Amino acid sequence: MGISVTPLDANDQPTRDAVYRIAMAAQAVDEPDLPPLCRRRFEAPLWHPMPGIDPRWVVARLDGAPVGWLRLYLHILDNTENASVDLVVDPAYRRRGVGRALHEHGVRLLREHGGKRLVGPTVTALPGEKGRELPGAAFAAAVGARPALSDVRRRLDVTALDRSRLAALLAEARAAAAGYRTIRWGDHAPEEYVADVAHLEGRLLLDAPMGELAWEQERMDAERARAAERALDARGVRRHNVGAVHEASGRLVAWSQLSLDATTTWHAWQQITIVDPAHRGHRLGLLVKVENLEHALAHEPGLRVIDTYNAAANAHMIAINEQLGFRPAAGSTDWQLTI
Ligand SMILES: CC(C)(COP(=O)(O)OP(=O)(O)OC[C@H]1O[C@@H](n2cnc3c(N)ncnc32)[C@H](O)[C@@H]1OP(=O)(O)O)[C@@H](O)C(=O)NCCC(=O)NCCS
Repeated sequence: MGISVTPLDANDQPTRDAVYRIAMAAQAVDEPDLPPLCRRRFEAPLWHPMPGIDPRWVVARLDGAPVGWLRLYLHILDNTENASVDLVVDPAYRRRGVGRALHEHGVRLLREHGGKRLVGPTVTALPGEKGRELPGAAFAAAVGARPALSDVRRRLDVTALDRSRLAALLAEARAAAAGYRTIRWGDHAPEEYVADVAHLEGRLLLDAPMGELAWEQERMDAERARAAERALDARGVRRHNVGAVHEASGRLVAWSQLSLDATTTWHAWQQITIVDPAHRGHRLGLLVKVENLEHALAHEPGLRVIDTYNAAANAHMIAINEQLGFRPAAGSTDWQLTI
């Protein structure tokens, strides 16, 4: 029978079970220090895609049994020539051409959509780290992709956090941020600030180093920001946010977000931290990040570890994270293939 590739049917529970099992098995090899994948978060894109994303999820079978999958996110509101891709093969069935068959299927889907570029991540070893076999890079190079952006995942061991140092950093940031006040919210931004949140989120791709990735600014507005909140609600992701409001204008000009999956209490992701360019130089990035961290520590008693990704070239954000005690845990490369 060989290899076949077909769309994942959201109503086909046994195949969904297999797809999730494959993702778990791959993660156990590639990123064993992360918590087990939250199934609700993993599967939600089948029913609740992020706004601006048309997801195509396909399954590869070897002699009839599911052994791998590919999830293609076609971008339909901006970056319409790009598709983000995740491609995973069961560790027990690698080097049999399954990855290549999935990739070729993904390229066909992209062509049908009129797209030009595939972008996908692989886990990489840290400099000096030995003994981990990570096949993603060899595979990506074998299908003709080029490394476009290097990221490092950094981890904060919350149990070893120097609280007095944190308090000192916060005091320092507050002293530098005269004329700004902070506000906090959970899953949903306050109505009066949702347009500012959207503006900041839309800027992110302009401001963060993007390496060789061909990515344009996302078209964000309040409506799309609300749709993204609904998609995160559907994933069961709980969020802690702190923003800084410029008192003279009343605008929200800095923002930091932490999130936790529904199935974990010990692990959080440090997500976006961004300061409007017109308001930089007042330590607002440090202020919102540290205040949010303190809030999360107070409200997530099981929290032990926080992970965050930074572009390897993002010296400023890395300096803030290192000050807080984040240390490199794994590398990651975004690969880009122009078809
Ligand atoms: C990367 C991955 C998808 C490859 O799946 P696979 O089914 O083993 O891939 P294929 O058998 O089709 O391999 C195609 C080519 O990739 C290269 N390749 C794949 N794995 C490799 C490895 N471990 N070492 C060296 N080259 C490798 C080879 O050139 C291979 O061709 P060959 O077997 O004829 O030499 C799989 O290892 C995986 O799921 N890894 C974790 C997730 C990931 O990194 N995904 C990549 C997203 S871009």
